[in-house]
Amino acid sequence: MPDVATRTHARVRPMGRIAYVDGRYVRHDLAAVHIEDRGLQFADSIYEVLGVFGGRIFDEDQHLDRLDRSLREIGLAMPMERPALRLVVREMARRNRLSDGLIYMQVTRGATRRDHAVPLQPSAPSLIITAKPIDTNSFEERRRSGIKVITTADERWARCDIKSTALLPNVLAKTKARNAGAYEAWLVDRDGRVTEGSSTTAWIVDSNGKLVTRNLDNAILPGVTRRVLMGVAESAQMPIVERRFTVEEAQGAREAFITAATIGALPVVQIDGRKIGDGKPGPVARRLHELYRDAAERAAAEGSHPSTGSG
Ligand code: PDD
Repeated sequence: MPDVATRTHARVRPMGRIAYVDGRYVRHDLAAVHIEDRGLQFADSIYEVLGVFGGRIFDEDQHLDRLDRSLREIGLAMPMERPALRLVVREMARRNRLSDGLIYMQVTRGATRRDHAVPLQPSAPSLIITAKPIDTNSFEERRRSGIKVITTADERWARCDIKSTALLPNVLAKTKARNAGAYEAWLVDRDGRVTEGSSTTAWIVDSNGKLVTRNLDNAILPGVTRRVLMGVAESAQMPIVERRFTVEEAQGAREAFITAATIGALPVVQIDGRKIGDGKPGPVARRLHELYRDAAERAAAEGSHPSTGSG
């Protein structure tokens, strides 16, 4: 039987032992960018998060498409072509022996003398990639028990469709949720409508049994899981409506849940202390999670896309 230290080490693996920084695979604890990096100084950078399950990378092309779009929106060039990037992603999963976890990638505008305006002669962008294992058991536990959500004012900027690393409002909202014993904070706009979670997409099943999530606009990130899930829901003839909804409607909904690359669909059983439905995870969220997992797994195995529907 292994001693305690060995067992602890096996259970709590350090975050991505190998990182990728600007063309090099380096020890994670030694990986670094320059102190003048614009990502550090101005959050002048874009990121993506890919879920890896059973060694398979889920929804990869959709995430890389969104990465391209975010970069385009801030006028930053991707430092690497997609085929090479896909190879690096695989190599990172391999080197970190990632079975279930996530691949994090970030592109910054590089290091230059600090000046707000983007330099006329920009330095080379930096690409950093890390890998992190996920404790799938704790997620499955949450899927069985459901999670609590609090609501808080959405204090973010007007371009939340861009996946930038300027995440301070998200960080503060998530911390508020954690301190209140909740898993996520749903952000609420000035009209009292839920935009999304601090790092997840927000969904409800309304009183007519329809799946409801906010329509895409600049107020939310176009979630990849959202889009793929809409595709599988459509294939399963589950009615979907993209519209805004209030906190009160969510509290009175049949079900509520959140989605993101690293979690699939996770049921919400309480919003601001009010029970959703009978206070237990609902059947729609569970079914959607299974459909999503099956579709994403199949697509990853085939190296193609799952049906993305019209979402
Ligand atoms: N978060 N909304 C926000 C604000 C997010 O940050 C995320 C993802 C989502 C869900 O998007 P997707 O389904 O493409 O993962 C929605 C990632 C996981 C993060 O910041 O770590």
